[in-house]
Amino acid sequence: MKVLVIHGPSLDLLGTREPEIYGDETLDEVNKRIEEEARSLGLETVIHQTGREGEFVELLAASVGDVDAAILNPAAYSHTSRAIAEAIRAVPYPVVEVHLSNIHAREEWRRTSLTAEASVGVIAGLGARGYLLALKWVREAKD
Ligand code: DQA
Repeated sequence: MKVLVIHGPSLDLLGTREPEIYGDETLDEVNKRIEEEARSLGLETVIHQTGREGEFVELLAASVGDVDAAILNPAAYSHTSRAIAEAIRAVPYPVVEVHLSNIHAREEWRRTSLTAEASVGVIAGLGARGYLLALKWVREAKD
């Protein structure tokens, strides 16, 4: 079983980007944890990071027929992108949205996630652990 993971804009700067909000772990470190957890659950992962909305949409479309689920952190696009929301609705597999920070406890504009409205579920505010919990859900949902 294969799981697509996409990190959106500015998540490549994890570790130095607002560490008081996003922590001091780098994206490589987060991805290592994701890969380790996936391996222990018997899942395969394919991980991307992009700062471009169109590429995010294209990655989703290209994954159809190749993956069984996706874990997405669309970052700021969560709050603005109807294109990514529509792309999520267009794929046949379950999508879980993850946010490192609790978007409901921050600025008002972060409380709406257009992409979360198109997803099966959302994990927010649990840091990188959110990705690992999402992987567990994906594994269990398959049984
Ligand atoms: C984020 C939350 C978004 O509001 C923000 O734009 C991000 C990161 C998170 O993981 O907490 O870039 O998605």
